[in-house]
Amino acid sequence: MKPELDAFWMPFTASRHFKKAPRMLVKASGMYYWDDQGRQILDGVAGLWCVNAGHNRPKVVQAIQAQAAEMDFAPPFQMAHPKAFELADKVSKLAPAGLNKVFFTNSGSESVETALKMAIAYHRARGEGQRTRLIGRERGYHGVNFGGISVGGISGNRKMFGSLLTGVDHIRHTHDLARNAFSVGQPVHGAEMADDLERVIALHDASTIAAVIVEPIAGSTGVLIPPKGYLNRLREICDKHGILLIFDEVITGFGRTGAPFAANTFGVTPDLMTLAKGLTGGSVPMGAVLAKQAIHDVFMTGPEYLIEFAHGYTYSAHPLACAAGLATLETYADEGLLTRASQLQGYFGEALHSLKGLPNVIDIRNLGLVGGVELTPRPGEPSKRALDIFLDCYAQGVMLRYTGDIIALSPPLIIEREQIDRIVDTLRGAIQRAA
Ligand SMILES: Cc1ncc(COP(=O)(O)O)c(C=O)c1O
Repeated sequence: MKPELDAFWMPFTASRHFKKAPRMLVKASGMYYWDDQGRQILDGVAGLWCVNAGHNRPKVVQAIQAQAAEMDFAPPFQMAHPKAFELADKVSKLAPAGLNKVFFTNSGSESVETALKMAIAYHRARGEGQRTRLIGRERGYHGVNFGGISVGGISGNRKMFGSLLTGVDHIRHTHDLARNAFSVGQPVHGAEMADDLERVIALHDASTIAAVIVEPIAGSTGVLIPPKGYLNRLREICDKHGILLIFDEVITGFGRTGAPFAANTFGVTPDLMTLAKGLTGGSVPMGAVLAKQAIHDVFMTGPEYLIEFAHGYTYSAHPLACAAGLATLETYADEGLLTRASQLQGYFGEALHSLKGLPNVIDIRNLGLVGGVELTPRPGEPSKRALDIFLDCYAQGVMLRYTGDIIALSPPLIIEREQIDRIVDTLRGAIQRAA
């Protein structure tokens, strides 16, 4: 290992393995990265599900540069700057009807913590302070802070960190290989899995439950597309019991599913929605929580000179992030990117499903411009086959992701058909070599 690599304690990385053969990215543009060897690498995962408009888009670069020169920082507590209001207004107009209040954060994890706190505080403010319980879902990923890992359903992210948040329970995940393997788009079977929420409600009583949080499509645990009717059913059950429904749209937001948000695609509107990633196309860290007017208004009581919601971050609505967000939204609008995945999903899905029949491929799933290819694990070596495939593709100049033994694809929304072909052909070769 080179000594200069020693100090950086890397996030979510097999760091000793990485430092022996580092993969260093040094430049990016459009659909591509370049590494420190000068190799061009096709980005099959939008960086980390975030670079939805492609890399280094001119309007975004220009907006960040201009903002840095004009005003670096403005305190967001008891002060503000105009672009914060402008961006909130634009995001609220893009959001599904009713989600018209925007609270800014700096990441998906912070958005999740913010939404969970909003839900509990909302019930308290309207006189149901006993509603503190939070319900997540197995295989859910909601970032890495304590609230997020508590409602999240990934044991590897939870087991090292003690007792987590108390008063949390989980409904079952929706992955059902036996009935739904190789579904194109939404699986047909499994709307009834939402009824698991009734089981959890019966156990704890609805009067103790503040909110249910789910990803419309579970991304980090391998692209689990919701069965037809499942999210509608969750919505109905939450309504019946006065429980808030939170959609974590950190990866599904901003065009990934073929509409601005997965809530549009699936026709189900949550009470709170968490966002990040695509909000600034990954260019500057930023997240947000969207809330319904009625939730916001419950806080707007008491003397006007007092703070209504005791929550926020030093860098909430940071000027650089707001400038980047505005330019990113403009780029999406200029190029019709927030609906482009709906035009490409047929081609993308067909290309991906052409991998059916390759050795060890046990499922392929897709919706919009997101896809997953699930593989049989090598005996005694979980996730090693997927790692080999990931490394092989990278060596061929295509960057994908893997999670367990599932390969995930989520390319920038500017992708062209021949680039889809290249990604899928590269993946095909790597799967064959990893047999
Ligand atoms: C659904 C979901 N929620 C939250 C997060 C956490 O976001 P961040 O890494 O920006 O904290 C992620 C990250 O991938 C995510 O996929």
